[in-house]
Amino acid sequence: MKAAFFALFTLAASALASPLLADKRQLETQADEIDKLTELVKVHTANINKTTAAVQDNPSVAQQNEAAAALAPDLQAITNALTSATTSLLTKRAVVVARGGGCDKDCLTVKVQLLVWEIACTLKFIIVKLGLDCVLVYLLPLLLSLVGLVKALEVVVVGLLIVVKGLLTTVLGAVAGALLALIF
Ligand SMILES: *[C@@H]1O[C@H](CO)[C@@H](O)[C@H](O)[C@H]1NC(C)=O
Repeated sequence: MKAAFFALFTLAASALASPLLADKRQLETQADEIDKLTELVKVHTANINKTTAAVQDNPSVAQQNEAAAALAPDLQAITNALTSATTSLLTKRAVVVARGGGCDKDCLTVKVQLLVWEIACTLKFIIVKLGLDCVLVYLLPLLLSLVGLVKALEVVVVGLLIVVKGLLTTVLGAVAGALLALIF
């Protein structure tokens, strides 16, 4: 597991190394992007919940690994969705159409919190049921891609990363403290 931590830590360093510039007028576009992302994530967290709920209590190591393999496609799909949303936010320099009732910083913060909450609660459910070891290899890239997204948004919503860190610590601190320590 130590080797896995190190390999993934290298991945962490590269994932967090891309700063960007964004424009405040992009808030609206980013809000749409986060809404779409959250919808997509919920499709996968629904699958994850179903798969996790079907695992019997106190699973054997073999059952843990079997469940982890079954969860992998949805966990990886969330990671990919977070990564491509980040890329899209970073590369978007499109003209932003002004709309009434736009999403300001507080509104964007709430949207991100809902996304993070959905992911964190689902991960907690997995970890409580299966333990951390069998899913670590999927959860670290997922959380790193989540932090990468938040860092991309931090440019327009200063302080967002602190908010997200607090939220993740609240939900996952007790069950995945070591994992969070790798990320923050
Ligand atoms: C999955 O389960 C978690 C933990 O109970 C919950 O917070 C989350 O909303 C659920 N997601 C879906 C889409 O049902």
